[in-house]
Amino acid sequence: MKSDNGSGMPALGAVPAPNEQPERTGTVVRGEKIEKTSYEASEEVQRWLRERDAERVGEKPPFTPTFLAHQRDRLWVLSSLERFYEEDLIADVLHVVQSGKEATVYCCAADPATGLEYLAAKVYRPRMFRGLKNDAVYRQSRAQLDADGHEVRNDRRWKAHQRSGRGQSERVVSWITYEFLTQQRLYEAGADVPRPLSHIGNGVLMEYVGDADGEAAPLLREVELPAEEAEPIFERIVRNVELFLACDRIHGDLSAYNILYQEGAIAVIDFAQALDPRYNPEVYPLLLRDVERICQHFARYGVDADAGAIAGEMWARYLAGEL
Ligand SMILES: Nc1ncnc2c1ncn2[C@@H]1O[C@H](COP(=O)(O)OP(=O)(O)O)[C@@H](O)[C@H]1O
Ligand SMILES: [Mg+2]
Repeated sequence: MKSDNGSGMPALGAVPAPNEQPERTGTVVRGEKIEKTSYEASEEVQRWLRERDAERVGEKPPFTPTFLAHQRDRLWVLSSLERFYEEDLIADVLHVVQSGKEATVYCCAADPATGLEYLAAKVYRPRMFRGLKNDAVYRQSRAQLDADGHEVRNDRRWKAHQRSGRGQSERVVSWITYEFLTQQRLYEAGADVPRPLSHIGNGVLMEYVGDADGEAAPLLREVELPAEEAEPIFERIVRNVELFLACDRIHGDLSAYNILYQEGAIAVIDFAQALDPRYNPEVYPLLLRDVERICQHFARYGVDADAGAIAGEMWARYLAGEL
């Protein structure tokens, strides 16, 4: 194949056309004007650029989702999602599903390699790095994880490290890693949670719960269940709570706002506040609150359930090692 610059290489936009003067920069040295040819116009540089260009064949183009072009927090979001793109997990960012106080959830086009059509990317805000004063309760009752998800001993050195600036940002990593690992553990145990695919510093990538057009499933809070579905869905949620406990986890923020509903099926989401009871025996009130909120929601459908009895019985079996 012959290219118009006769080099056998693809013509580069930077090569001046015959009727154009190469761009020149003038510099004055000791009163004498020396004409310097622009760096890029030099034959050597041009050849080097052509070689680099040829090397790029087969490499992925840079990640520039059009949806993000006009978003205020474009750079932050890009830096979070780029890794998922490089790992051939996502191909594009399509729209915002929900923007909450701590995180924004994006609907992404999945990379064909995943065999899926859409993926949900939950990206935590930078604000998270400043608002960590209230997580003491949760810190106490979960194992601390380092960036790789390994448990870190709760010694003095670790506590001093936690107070340092680096510790602050690692705590966010640890929190997100924990959310991912919790979801992974529950998914593998067969719980109704979206399949988690990957996580990075401030983002979690998971199965998208929605329809074929990329419309996200509504929250349980937003739907009016058919009467005959209420009881079975309620029981299914309770069975999930029990399964979570069998996996040493309490959701910690369970309600109809953190359960998606689609065509008779549910998906429990948002494990950011999940707790491990082994690290704090005082967490029963949180389990009780999770169950109470579910019972309250289903009372409108006439489901008559005693939250205290359900949670109490579950907890007793957990402590007896019977779950
Ligand atoms: N896997 C998912 N598929 C579809 N929508 C999701 C998914 N995960 C989260 N969402 C949507 O994003 C919202 C926020 O996600 P959530 O994990 O609850 O974060 P937050 O901490 O902001 O409450 C949810 O209410 C739901 O509408
Ligand atoms: Mg939520």
